[in-house]
Parts: sequence; structure tokens; C-alpha cells
Amino acid sequence: MSADAERTVESVERDVLVDIRGLKVHFPIKKGFIFDRTVGHVYAVDGVDLQIRRGETYGLVGESGCGKSTLGRALLQLEPLTEGEVFFDGVDLASLRGEALRRQRQHMQMVFQDPLGSLDPRQTVEQLLLEGMQAHDLAKGSAAKERLVELLAAVGLPRTALGKYPHEFSGGQRQRIGIARALSVDPQLIVADEPVSALDVSVQAQVINLMEDLQQEFGLTYLLIAHDLAVVRHISDRIGVMYLGALAEEAEADDLYAMPLHPYTRALLSAVPVPDPLVEDQREQILLAGDLPSPANPPSGCRFHTRCPWRQETRCDDERPQLRLVQIDGVPESHRVACHWAEQIQSGDLQPHAADTSLTDPTDVQSDDGEASSLFANVVGIPKP
Ligand SMILES: Nc1ncnc2c1ncn2[C@@H]1O[C@H](COP(=O)(O)OP(=O)(O)OP(=O)(O)O)[C@@H](O)[C@H]1O
Ligand code: SF4
Ligand SMILES: [Mg+2]
Repeated sequence: MSADAERTVESVERDVLVDIRGLKVHFPIKKGFIFDRTVGHVYAVDGVDLQIRRGETYGLVGESGCGKSTLGRALLQLEPLTEGEVFFDGVDLASLRGEALRRQRQHMQMVFQDPLGSLDPRQTVEQLLLEGMQAHDLAKGSAAKERLVELLAAVGLPRTALGKYPHEFSGGQRQRIGIARALSVDPQLIVADEPVSALDVSVQAQVINLMEDLQQEFGLTYLLIAHDLAVVRHISDRIGVMYLGALAEEAEADDLYAMPLHPYTRALLSAVPVPDPLVEDQREQILLAGDLPSPANPPSGCRFHTRCPWRQETRCDDERPQLRLVQIDGVPESHRVACHWAEQIQSGDLQPHAADTSLTDPTDVQSDDGEASSLFANVVGIPKP
């Protein structure tokens, strides 16, 4: 390797704040009253490599149940890793225990979808914000009070909010409190798990804009988890598309929207409405057949083969595709896709066909509350059987 190339590799490595390697999180499925027998596993995250650079927003999207929250929680060491490693700022988090892990947690905070559920209703805003600061010895006495007021100002709330309880605020304001609480310990990384999904559309944009401003002000790095591609696009530098526990595609946000390469991403994007009616009439619509298979019994080979309109007789059913660079003109190295046939699909040499719905076992449907299917049906327009 030339000296220049070595320097580039070094600077990219220095630039990486979160380095997830070969991550697997499997949950045992237990049965039996007396003897707890493990009868299977939910393969919630099943082989993910993902790097997040300092100061960037990494958007992670995918259907309900594909493993987004589990990945975020595993990154924060809130779920035990079945396999793989998570490095934060070069530190192997799994090697930390007790006090060392607690101190490291100061740098990695989480913002949740449901601010009311994640804020203790018996605590005032002041108590909520002080909790973390005190736990990490960040400010005491008058300095703490000053910091509280600064935090509130940063998230656009008046100082009178300090004496109030979470239920006295609107949904958007509560999320501002949730963000202030995450910021209170001066973190480097915030994992925001569907931070605006529970909010009205008008408020969603305000909270996303606030997050962008705070990122600039405090030099934050975000892992933003969402199922809404529109939300992720606006704020993300890079986007990872997840399907059944693994990344199907990863690219700079603009590249992903300009040239989605994985059939799943193409389907997701083909269903996002375009405001121009002429474009809307002419654009590619990809309908996916079948339901999301269960992560307890994922399909062999390419996990998407049961629903893929481009599925081929060779490789797709029995060879799991890795996230890889592609040989397509104009596609940069930052754009990676887990599909054996990405080049041929992009060139048009392979054409879509009706997927074989018999490949999806209807008893394997992941969600019986209808959420997974209907969420995706809204996005992709799946014909219901
Ligand atoms: N503690 C657990 N024990 C067993 N299974 C779990 C556990 N947590 C998550 N799962 C399962 O792991 C899979 C992935 O769940 P996860 O919550 O990570 O998905 P998600 O992509 O965040 O979905 P959503 O968009 O609905 O939040 C699901 O099938 C879920 O039921
Ligand atoms: S590997 Fe095969 S089944 Fe998987 S996305 Fe590509 S074409 Fe579809
Ligand atoms: Mg989730």
C-alpha cells in the first residue's frame, strides 16, 4: 500500500466513531413450564457490519421487526451480543463491565419513540434532566442550574418548564425534553429510535430540524432509526436499508435515492409518492408479493428471495449475498448492496417477474397485529392475498 493510501485508511479509521463488526443478536424462543427448553431463535440481527463516522447522521430504515431497534440497543450494550463486536471510539464495548461501562455510556445516549413512556411521570423536568448530570458528576449547585436553563434553551423550551411534569406538555415538547435529557450528559452519539414516528407530521419537521441544529451546535453523531424514508432522507448523510436482520443496501443518502440498487430498496422507493402527477403516473411501481417472513425462520440464501421480483434460479435461494461494492459506472465505493445480481438488474439484462408467493409460508408471518404488513403495504402497495 502506498504512503498516501495508508494515510487515507488511517484517517478514515480515525473518523469512525462506531464500528460494528459481524453483529448478531439472537433471542432464544423458550417453551415449557418446568424445564425451560430453547426451541428456536429469533434472528433479530444476523450479521451486520456498519460504521458510523464522527459528526454524521446514519439513517437506518426497514420494516417493522427487521431488527433496527435491536441493533441500536446492542450498539449501546443494552442487549447482549450473540456474536460480533462493537467498537466505540476504538473501545471494544463488550470488554467493559461495571463502572467502566457506566462511564462509557455517558457518551452514548438514546432518544425514544414514545417520550411519555420514556420519561418518569413523577419527576419534574428539572429532576429528569439533573438525574444523568448528577450520575456523571457533570455539574453541581448554581452551575447545574445554569446548565439546565441552557439545555432547555437549546431545545426551544422556556425555563418555566423546569418545574413542570411530562404530562403537562404536548407530544412535540415532550420529545424536546427527551432530547434535552439525552444532551444533558454531553454525549458524542445519540441513537434516536423512531424519534418522530409518534408525532403529528407538522411537528415531525420541527423536531427533525431541531436535531439538525443541535448536531451542528454540539458536534453530535446520530444513528437515526426510522421506517419513514422521507424522514430519513432529509437529515441523513448515509442510509442503511435493513431487511430481516441484515443490511440490504448502504449508500450516501442522495446516491440511494438517485439509484437504488437492491430490489427491496427499489420497491420501497417506488412507492413513495411524487408530487408531480405526470412523473407519478410514469414512474416505476414495484409490487412485492407475500408477507415479511418470520425472523425466527428466515429464508435460506438471500433473505429477500421469497418476495423478490428479480429472483433467479441460481444463487438466490441458497447463497447468502454479502454487502459488496458493485461494478456499475458512476456508482461510488460508498454504495454497497447485498444482491448477487445488482449489475444485471441495473443494466436491464434481468427483468422483473412475478414473485412466487408460494415461497412465503403464510404461517410464518412475523406480525399478527397487522403492523408489519400494513406498514409495508402502505409503503409498497403489496397486493393482499
Ligand atoms: N427481547 C426480545 N426477545 C425476543 N424477541 C425479541 C426481543 N426483542 C425483539 N425481538 C424480536 O426481534 C425482532 C426484531 O425486533 P426489533 O424491535 O429490533 O425490530 P424493529 O425493526 O425495531 O421493529 P419496529 O419497526 O416495529 O420497531 C422482532 O421479531 C422482535 O419480535
Ligand atoms: S440476490 Fe436474488 S433474490 Fe436477492 S435481491 Fe438479488 S435478485 Fe433478489
Ligand atoms: Mg423498533
